[in-house]
Formats: sequence, C-alpha cells, structure tokens
Amino acid sequence: MILNWINPEEFSFSSFLLMDRWIVRMISTQYAGWHEFTNNLGIALKYNPTVAWYFAQRSPESKPSIDDMVAAAPSDLPPDEVRKAEVFVIRAMETSVVYAYPDIMQRNCDYIYDWDKNLLFELADFTDKLVLDVGSGTGRLAFAAAEKARRVYASEPTDMLREYMRDKIIRENIPNVTVVDGTVQTIPYEDDTFDIVMSGHVVGDDYDREIAELTRVVKDGGWIIDCIGEDNLKRTVKDELLKRGFESFYHVSKTGGDIYRYRKRVWK
Ligand SMILES: C[S@@+](CC[C@H](N)C(=O)[O-])C[C@H]1O[C@@H](n2cnc3c(N)ncnc32)[C@H](O)[C@@H]1O
Repeated sequence: MILNWINPEEFSFSSFLLMDRWIVRMISTQYAGWHEFTNNLGIALKYNPTVAWYFAQRSPESKPSIDDMVAAAPSDLPPDEVRKAEVFVIRAMETSVVYAYPDIMQRNCDYIYDWDKNLLFELADFTDKLVLDVGSGTGRLAFAAAEKARRVYASEPTDMLREYMRDKIIRENIPNVTVVDGTVQTIPYEDDTFDIVMSGHVVGDDYDREIAELTRVVKDGGWIIDCIGEDNLKRTVKDELLKRGFESFYHVSKTGGDIYRYRKRVWK
C-alpha cells in the first residue's frame, strides 16, 4: 500500500545506507515473489555498488539474494532507467525510508501529526507509573506518557529513531524517558517489570509470541495497551486481540479512518 508520506523523486538511493540490519534483511529477502520489486531492486543495487556492498556487509544472511538480484540486472542501462528503478524501490519501501528521516516522519505521517495524546490517557492512569513503549518510533506514545509517568522506557530497533528520541530528550530536557534497543519479540527486561506496556503499529506479525513477551514484562495487575495513531484507513476490529482478552475502543478519525485502540489488564 502506497501511503504517499514522501515524494520518492526527492530521495537519494543512498538513503538505504542509513538502514539497520533488520530493514536491509526485510528489503532484500521478504519480497522474493514480487518480481517487479526484485527486478527494480536488482537494477538499483547493481548501479549503486556502495549500497549493494553495505547491504551484504550489514546483513550477510541476505547476501545470496542480493547477489542473485544484482546478477539478474541488465548491464549498460541509461541513467534515467536506473533512476526509475531507484524511485520504484524508494516508493515501495517508503514506510521504511521514513525511519531514516525521523523529522520527515514526524512531519508527514498522519498517524503521528494528527494524533491527540488524550486518546492514550483514556486507556489507563499513567500517574507515577513505570512504562515501556515497544517500537517507539519518534516517541509519539513515549513522550506523551512521560508527562504523567514516573519513567518511560522507549524501546526501538531502528538506530536513526533512537537517536531522534535521544536528541529530543536533550533538546527539551525531558528527565524521565530512557531510550533502548529491542524488539517486541525479545524485550530486554526482566519478568514483571512494568506497570504499563504499550505499543502502536507494532503488534500483529505473530500475536501469540508478541503478546506472550509483552505479558512477561508487565506486572501482575498491569496493563498492555495497543494505541495506533490517527489516519484515514478503513479497518475492522482485530479479532486476534479480542480473543486474547483485549477490550477495544473505537472512534472515527477526523479524516474518516476507523481507529481501534486496545487494552488488557494482566492478572498473573
Ligand atoms: C509505524 S512505526 C510506529 C511508531 C510508534 N509506535 C508510533 O505509533 O508512533 C513502527 C515502529 O516499530 C518499529 N519496529 C519494527 N519492527 C519491530 C519489532 N519487531 N519490534 C519492535 N518494534 C519494531 C519500527 O522501527 C518503527 O519505529
């Protein structure tokens, strides 16, 4: 789905040099059946050998697919054909490209700029709580929670986004947000640590594993929250969350999107 968060023509293919291993792996291996994408990626990598080298060094497990795509790309393409391929890949991967440009993400992504933090505060009392935000991004949820919580740990697997949050903490002198690496599959904390564990636009690839991990680090009587931002997308309620004991809260965003927020009280 193209969300038009960026104009791909304005971006250099070198943007991919800013990406983390997990994103390089995803781009290089997860779209094997989408031939238009792999053909264009092969061309873009063949004519950007530094990016191809970086991909293979950063994610050695992806090297065989990278080598195959580059080998299949035609030689002697004119610069405009190469640029067309680069733009195709940048457009197709826009949701990852924005992670390399957190300021643009903050400015252009409707789920962030259109969001009202009261939508989070309605879901639990954050006062003086110890909170974990998993997959924080630019810190939409983490910085909101920090206005009430004792401390918020903002866990984020993308380096550029961790740095964005750290810069904001220094710039705005925010004393109670700590930025850490980590994924929802492997949260770097002991069992029963947090009063509230929250995320937005993160859970959903593997509900059993992800919810087990979120549940592990929340204290008895604590909350797990899934609070997406505002957008214009039409969606239905996630039965996968309801059947695992979450309650849902629904509203229509001002741009007409169906927004569901979820929470679950955890008893151990
Ligand atoms: C669409 S953004 C949402 C950011 C933020 N939660 C928000 O709602 O504003 C998704 C975020 O999840 C992070 N992410 C990707 N895979 C992840 C994983 N396996 N575990 C945790 N976070 C992940 C991305 O780096 C990105 O920051």
